[in-house]
Amino acid sequence: MTDNKQLNHWIHEMEALCNPEQVVICDGSRLEYDNMMALLKDAGVAKQLNPDIRPNSYLIRSDPADVARVESRTFICSEQPEDAGPTNNWANPIEMKSTLENLFAGAMSGRTMYVIPFSMGPIGSPIAHIGVEITDSPYVVASMHIMTRVGSAVLTELGEDGEYVPCIHSVGKPLDDVASDVPWPCNPDNLYIAHFPETREIWSFGSGYGGNALLGKKCFALRIASSMARDEGWLAEHMLILKLTNPEGLSHYIAGAFPSACGKTNLAMLVPSMEGWKVETVGDDICWMKFADDGKLYAINPEAGFFGVAPGTGMATNPNAMLSLSENCLFTNVAETDDGDIWWEGMTDRAPDHLIDWRGRDWTPDSSELAAHPNARFTVSASQCPTIADEWEDLQGVPISAILFGGRRATVVPLVNEANSWEQGTFFGSIVSSEKTAAAAGTIGDLRRDPMAMLPFCGYNMADYWQHWIKLGQQNSAQLPKIFYVNWFRKDDQGGFVWPGFCENSRVLKWIFERCEGTVDAVSTPIGNLPTLDGIDFDGLDMTDEDIATLLRVETDGWLEELPLIQAYYEQFGDKLPKELENQLSQLRHKLEAANQHVA
Ligand code: GTP
Ligand code: SPV
Ligand code: MN
Repeated sequence: MTDNKQLNHWIHEMEALCNPEQVVICDGSRLEYDNMMALLKDAGVAKQLNPDIRPNSYLIRSDPADVARVESRTFICSEQPEDAGPTNNWANPIEMKSTLENLFAGAMSGRTMYVIPFSMGPIGSPIAHIGVEITDSPYVVASMHIMTRVGSAVLTELGEDGEYVPCIHSVGKPLDDVASDVPWPCNPDNLYIAHFPETREIWSFGSGYGGNALLGKKCFALRIASSMARDEGWLAEHMLILKLTNPEGLSHYIAGAFPSACGKTNLAMLVPSMEGWKVETVGDDICWMKFADDGKLYAINPEAGFFGVAPGTGMATNPNAMLSLSENCLFTNVAETDDGDIWWEGMTDRAPDHLIDWRGRDWTPDSSELAAHPNARFTVSASQCPTIADEWEDLQGVPISAILFGGRRATVVPLVNEANSWEQGTFFGSIVSSEKTAAAAGTIGDLRRDPMAMLPFCGYNMADYWQHWIKLGQQNSAQLPKIFYVNWFRKDDQGGFVWPGFCENSRVLKWIFERCEGTVDAVSTPIGNLPTLDGIDFDGLDMTDEDIATLLRVETDGWLEELPLIQAYYEQFGDKLPKELENQLSQLRHKLEAANQHVA
């Protein structure tokens, strides 16, 4: 088996429980990947794309009942309910274990149990951690190859007594006879994505899709890691990491938290519209940060690939994503063209005249349904991204100068504002709200609070998590990043976006860079520091003065209406709410009321 006694013991235990036909320890090799794809082709779930157009790439169609993360079936099983907090689904760990053990009993019969040793972060980095996922899904094995660092080097790093996070996954469809298998086995009626923060374990049953099944991603790198980070004094965040270089060649690293499907991948790969500026990519979804001896906050991207939202991605919006996708990719729930390639809404201006849609049905532009599922995804190695930064795998990470928070807000929230302090920045993070997207099952468009873009991903009580942020900011030795709140999604009365977004977001990044350098002024307002009217370069944009005013205005009335909602949101945390945040809220109220009187 392996050299690690504890791991061997666990593998045997899981084998006895799940009763698979065979056990395979994954080595992360190309051959292994090709074998997985061959299995998926034989099962009728993967189709190889035209190799002349997109070499070594596959289209995968999931079961239509298994297309996104399911937050209502995601559980934090801490010993005490208050350690999960009011924003998580809590379940008693003993009861949940017993439910799961019943479900997993015999769950892999007729299937292969794959054991995937993986590293989150470059192997050997002081910020990295190791996990082992056991799964009965070849799609998960292939995806983990791309999304994490898999294989023998991980086992070597783990050694005889190294620690790892055990992640057990089953699609939940035991096979009585192989002929009865379906292309995408899953068990949506018995879905559980369960986390045990005290014992640092993950158990996932019933789904083969994305964050439900690729357990290194949201389950480990955010839910379990956030809880490890609290215990150990670091941060595990739902953030992209980019390197921004000005025309003089000076660079800053910026991290940014936006809720799912709110623009992290796009920002991380942005092609600046600003002459002479350059963006390079370090990570597009998750960021682990630790303070080093020099007092700076260093970040790594724990992932090795991108699991990106396909719809809306095209040469006009995100050319670097498109260029990354030229070969060696998986595409899940996109549409198929007549020449054996892929298509989705937003990839080109005009849809092809005929497609096979994500469910395998004929589709034409007259069709009333979307050709690709709104949460269709591409899976590709980060190394294929043309803008990947040279230092993206540096073991010590990159020093972060600025942290951005943002969400989809049609109203109230301006294009950008800068926090006066870490504490105010933590407050901004805690009040992030966003209109819901297709990345999770549920109603799209509803406004919800999504603190630090971590609502579905924080593995412990959200108020304790805020306290952890505040505490980190109070360390004397810390050289803290500046914190900004951004909003690319303001809408006008006609429902159109006021801000062009995408490459034009570089205009805002430039302002943030200059604030880090101290070379540009700002206006002090109740909601922090805003750009002066000429602080951001709006030259050449098709925008009226009224549009610009909308983007940069402090909407005192709108904010005043928002305060009771924040207050009500905070109240659910009771005594656990950090008093620093309560103070921030009341200071904001006083400042807004004073501003209002001043105007009146
Ligand atoms: P997850 O992978 O779910 O965490 O999503 P993400 O935060 O990486 O979002 P992504 O960059 O994939 O963008 C999601 C959707 O938002 C895509 O359809 C994009 O085209 C769209 N989008 C991204 N940036 C912008 C922007 O600046 N303006 C507008 N209007 N849309 C954007
Ligand atoms: C997200 O929903 O934030 C994602 C996709 O990045 S998933 O891996 O499914 O969580
Ligand atoms: Mn994400």
